[in-house]
Amino acid sequence: MLAQVSPWYAHAAQRLTTAPAHALTPPARMEWTTHPGLGPGAELLGRDLRGKRLLELGCGPGHNVAHLAHHHKAPTTGVDLIGLQVRRARSHYGHITGTTFSAGHALHHLQATTQTFDAIYSVFGAIGLVPPALLLAEISRHLAPGGVLAFSLPHPARAGRHPSPDDHPREDYVTMPDRTRHPIARWEYDAHRWAAHLSRTGLRITSALDLRHPRLDPWPTTLLITARKR
Ligand SMILES: C[S@@+](CC[C@H](N)C(=O)[O-])C[C@H]1O[C@@H](n2cnc3c(N)ncnc32)[C@H](O)[C@@H]1O
Repeated sequence: MLAQVSPWYAHAAQRLTTAPAHALTPPARMEWTTHPGLGPGAELLGRDLRGKRLLELGCGPGHNVAHLAHHHKAPTTGVDLIGLQVRRARSHYGHITGTTFSAGHALHHLQATTQTFDAIYSVFGAIGLVPPALLLAEISRHLAPGGVLAFSLPHPARAGRHPSPDDHPREDYVTMPDRTRHPIARWEYDAHRWAAHLSRTGLRITSALDLRHPRLDPWPTTLLITARKR
């Protein structure tokens, strides 16, 4: 029988073959989309982030963790399901003061820690890939009062699709660096459904942005949501 490899493991392994990890300079801007420079940057997490404790769920190679730790002096932890991604992130940015990278499932990481954070965020990361009712409740439990949650997702109306009519996940695909596609389950809510789920866990939605590249994208490609702990 063939062993099933997580699509996220396959993704990390392919990336490492094509571009071996080496030390990098932290990027000058935080990115919420796949188009550098599009939409807001780190200001979405708060005006002055110096000394703020931040957590990224599904940090991949750690570019945003490094940006926040280096340019904003915010101690930032990045968690990723795939140990190989965490190794990649450490090779890129382990030398940057204020960065911590940890391997684990976002939900289990939150369940296992007593730490609280000033902001928790996800950039096409764990939010949308884990049952929202469970993950948002844990996030809310670990946010300080007034703390910020921000997350970007593939837009539920990308390429003419429609948001989920219910709370169930749908089949989607991860596109690998070699352009092959691996199936995954994704929660594809519109902003109203996210607002309802957030509200049930004590989080109030404060903005929902539909982002698309003005020349390259005929449809919105990213949904970027922010919320605040009551
Ligand atoms: C599309 S990548 C985005 C990576 C990064 N945020 C970025 O913008 O470059 C999604 C990442 O989420 C991670 N991931 C998927 N499910 C997760 C989970 N349940 N807990 C933690 N990380 C997860 C994957 O391993 C992958 O590295």
